[in-house]
Amino acid sequence: MTSTPPATRTAVVTGASSGIGAATARHLARAGYHVFCAARRVDRIEQLAAEVGGTPVACDVTDEASVAGLAAAVGGRLDVLVNNAGGAFGGATPVAEADSDAWRRMYDVNVIGLMQVTRALLPALVASGDGVVLNVGSTAGRIAYEGGAGYTAAKHGTQVVNETLRLELFDQPVRVMEIAPGMVKTEEFGLVRFDGDEEKAMAAYAGVAEPLVADDVAEAIAWMVSRPSHVSIDELVIRPKAQAAQHKVHRVF
Ligand SMILES: NC(=O)c1ccc[n+]([C@@H]2O[C@H](COP(=O)([O-])OP(=O)(O)OC[C@H]3O[C@@H](n4cnc5c(N)ncnc54)[C@H](OP(=O)(O)O)[C@@H]3O)[C@@H](O)[C@H]2O)c1
Repeated sequence: MTSTPPATRTAVVTGASSGIGAATARHLARAGYHVFCAARRVDRIEQLAAEVGGTPVACDVTDEASVAGLAAAVGGRLDVLVNNAGGAFGGATPVAEADSDAWRRMYDVNVIGLMQVTRALLPALVASGDGVVLNVGSTAGRIAYEGGAGYTAAKHGTQVVNETLRLELFDQPVRVMEIAPGMVKTEEFGLVRFDGDEEKAMAAYAGVAEPLVADDVAEAIAWMVSRPSHVSIDELVIRPKAQAAQHKVHRVF
């Protein structure tokens, strides 16, 4: 008797063109997923998708029509959604000097973008019978720090959307998880935050011999989404050993 091979499991990773998203796409592909690699920079996701045997999808998560295109590319069934697209913009300015546009952009990508992608892909996740939504939050979504209010407000938003969604889907076959990384040394996060100023971008990691790298977070994500279907890793905080708390970092100069 021949048995039907299981359908290939599928995953969407937003913000797959760099850092944590690209590393997550690689880990999930290694774990056997067909990965839809979504981001705005098409050349990068085409390269990554070719490398991992996935599908590149140009997508701006803040644009509803673009997100509808992503949902159309994915089709009627999806196993895992990793809402990773996000970031900080406008430097590290106190509230008294805050740039309204930078704050809007942060809310737009870290909260509204996440909501739009989730809303569009939820039917396909439900249809899989065992879907997972994993949101990439941050320790900035757990605590306040000076100069960070625009980003911390947005990442607290990510965390609250995560909790709300879990309550709303309690009787649906979809688990809702959040990973909250601390300091991760990725090539672009700091550069994007500080408008390309390399010195400011690197200052956060000064004296820290071993910050987390994208691979550390991606490996944890791959572990979270591969737990048995009755196990939900609701929230996972992951930091480098050197970062005992946001304000308590072991630096050696
Ligand atoms: N690095 C850290 O220390 C750290 C710590 C905690 C949490 N995080 C979170 O982890 C996630 C990834 O960060 P990272 O360090 O890997 O930063 P990164 O290298 O700057 O990656 C950000 C990704 O988001 C994508 N993106 C930005 N805006 C987008 C939009 N409107 N539509 C679609 N994609 C968009 C970017 O791709 P395109 O520009 O090509 O669209 C890029 O691939 C973010 O949510 C960040 O807030 C980072």
